[in-house]
Amino acid sequence: MPDTYAVIGNPIAHSKSPLIHAEFSKQTRQDMYYETILAPPNGFAAAIEDFQQNGGKGMNVTVPFKIEAYKISTRLTEQATAAQAVNTLVFDGNEIYGDNTDGTGLIRDIVTNLDFAITTKRVLLCGAGGAARGIMLPLLKQEPRMLAISNRTIQKAHKLRQQFSSYKNIVSGNYADIAGKEFDLIINATSASLIGKPLPLPLSTFATESLAYDIMYGDKNTPFLQFARKEGATYLSDGIGMLVEQAAESFFIWRGVRPETKLLIEMLNQKN
Ligand code: ATR
Repeated sequence: MPDTYAVIGNPIAHSKSPLIHAEFSKQTRQDMYYETILAPPNGFAAAIEDFQQNGGKGMNVTVPFKIEAYKISTRLTEQATAAQAVNTLVFDGNEIYGDNTDGTGLIRDIVTNLDFAITTKRVLLCGAGGAARGIMLPLLKQEPRMLAISNRTIQKAHKLRQQFSSYKNIVSGNYADIAGKEFDLIINATSASLIGKPLPLPLSTFATESLAYDIMYGDKNTPFLQFARKEGATYLSDGIGMLVEQAAESFFIWRGVRPETKLLIEMLNQKN
């Protein structure tokens, strides 16, 4: 019997994770099976128990269950603790290990795939929700010169900064507060792109040679990336690379083998 893994979420039908992990297991010759689980909004714990009892080895967790996955984990990594959310579970006897590979995936896509160093750069993180929190620690570990958190609801930006108060190079505010300032790396971690809305970013935001990165992806440039192009960002990227890299990191946690990601990212970009 091959080892079984799954992605759990609601909705889940359009998840690219089964395709990505099927490619990874083929490429690395791992004897494993990866399935999709649609859990009802109040059925996460029951679905996990069922999967575990049937010998399931690990899971990816997506919207809306990442916080619940964090709560049911009996052991958490530093990343998962900082993110207060879990996207990767490992089942081992009675233990449930919870990790979060989103931030690592983002950093690997920016630094390795796009060859854009974050160290000493001026970074703007747009958004202060779950997605933004999930990437804070890996971003800070890259030692940017400064990290500005901008959010529509200013209190949430301040709260997120306070969670990482041991780092002294963070500022927080709303979008008007960054008027006149420019940044080298601008990350959209809001859900504004989902509803087709650009962010109210000041025109000065994008420095020469800057990278605008949207953690969302779609079949055309998001409103954020369209605005970034118009306002002079040199490099643009959506979140397809991050999606593949966070999956590769989960795969590594489960199987101890690191899959190649380059060709798969190219393939998914062509399909987009
Ligand atoms: P997620 O887990 O995807 O981060 P979330 O926790 O609900 O979801 O956070 C959504 C983020 O997108 C928040 O930063 C939100 O801003 P507010 O805190 O002010 O709500 C941001 N967001 C959503 N729609 C937005 C819009 N139209 N303009 C600006 N920011 C938006």
